[in-house]
Amino acid sequence: MSSSTAALAAAAAAASAALLVLAAFAGGVEARERESAWLPAAKKMAAAPKKVAAAAAAAAKVPAVIVFGDSTVDTGNNNVVATMLKSNFPPYGRDLGAATGRFCNGRLPPDFMSEALGLPPLVPAYLDPAYGIADFARGVCFASAGTGLDNATAGVLAVIPLWKEVEYFKEYQRRLRRHAGRAAARRIVRDALYVVSIGTNDFLENYFLLVTGRFKQFTVGEFEDFLVAQAAGFLAAIHRLGARRVAFAGLSAIGCLPLERTLNALRGGCVEEYNQVARDYNVKLNAMIAGLQRSLPGLKIAYVPVYDDMLNLINNPSTLGLENVEQGCCATGMFEMSYLCNEKNPLTCPDADKYFFWDSFHPTEKPILKILAKELQILSSWCAMIGIPSFTQWSYFSSTDTM
Ligand SMILES: *[C@@H]1O[C@H](CO)[C@@H](O)[C@H](O)[C@H]1NC(C)=O
Repeated sequence: MSSSTAALAAAAAAASAALLVLAAFAGGVEARERESAWLPAAKKMAAAPKKVAAAAAAAAKVPAVIVFGDSTVDTGNNNVVATMLKSNFPPYGRDLGAATGRFCNGRLPPDFMSEALGLPPLVPAYLDPAYGIADFARGVCFASAGTGLDNATAGVLAVIPLWKEVEYFKEYQRRLRRHAGRAAARRIVRDALYVVSIGTNDFLENYFLLVTGRFKQFTVGEFEDFLVAQAAGFLAAIHRLGARRVAFAGLSAIGCLPLERTLNALRGGCVEEYNQVARDYNVKLNAMIAGLQRSLPGLKIAYVPVYDDMLNLINNPSTLGLENVEQGCCATGMFEMSYLCNEKNPLTCPDADKYFFWDSFHPTEKPILKILAKELQILSSWCAMIGIPSFTQWSYFSSTDTM
């Protein structure tokens, strides 16, 4: 083995070790001091002048943004969960002004959507003790980093399983009825915009990491079918509980996440096998969603096709002024996330806006906003269908030029 091959092999080993170490310690961690990092951040955002002229009318139509899923949309629930998968410490949140538990340097898609709808600029996490039902009446996040559609996925890093997110949603509805009255609560639940983003961990933290045994039980195609069936069950459950307007994200190009590239270091580049799985799963997910749209009364559901737009940006980084689309900004960018991405690491990049990825698993705010703007443009007929103006017509999004 040449020394550079050895170095690559070591990096790949470190990358798989990073996830496994996190998994091994799952549940055994003392919750760190719970800085209520949120509140200052929310106040700062609220004070900032915002161009949301057309948003007030839309807010009346969409009273709340309600979020389910994983780290792509978790706004801080894991802060109070005994897991190794946390991000409520610097440099997370560096460009937001506070480490809130978002796996990002800035904000996440639900935050931008909420703000565009004339609602608060940060969607509060349901488990954050700094917030109460009056806040949650205008937006609430039940998502948990590291979770998945498969119950077994949440077990890997001891996070909140999706069925438990739904239990929290039921509890939320009881609190909402007490707070706002029965009729108003029903209206909020019915007219809210539901944002769901989940599935990456089922493959990368579960099936392909070989820790749950699912790989012995299912072929990858069967596992895709199993996950899509779980997604259908979840959607039927929230529909039964009153949800009507749902945006459900497909998988991104999961083989291009820096951690997966590192694991693939000997071959180099994105893991094409994983990208192929994401594409196959997306086709099945999209078909299931189209079926539900026809069979569940009143359901207005959009499949959000993020895969192509993510890959487009990665293949054409200069269109967004990106200089690195292969490593995360944090630390070496090859395998660090959660506690391994911390303030003590001197290698963290000075300007996250030059990077597609913030840590080895999650994008920076800049491509998030760009891709979101593009997706909402694609979904403009769905926006019309649910009676809200296309987001891209609103000043907040139109100020970012489209791809
Ligand atoms: C997942 O766990 C919940 C709660 O224990 C259970 O109700 C559900 O049936 C499980 N799903 C599957 C597919 O096993």
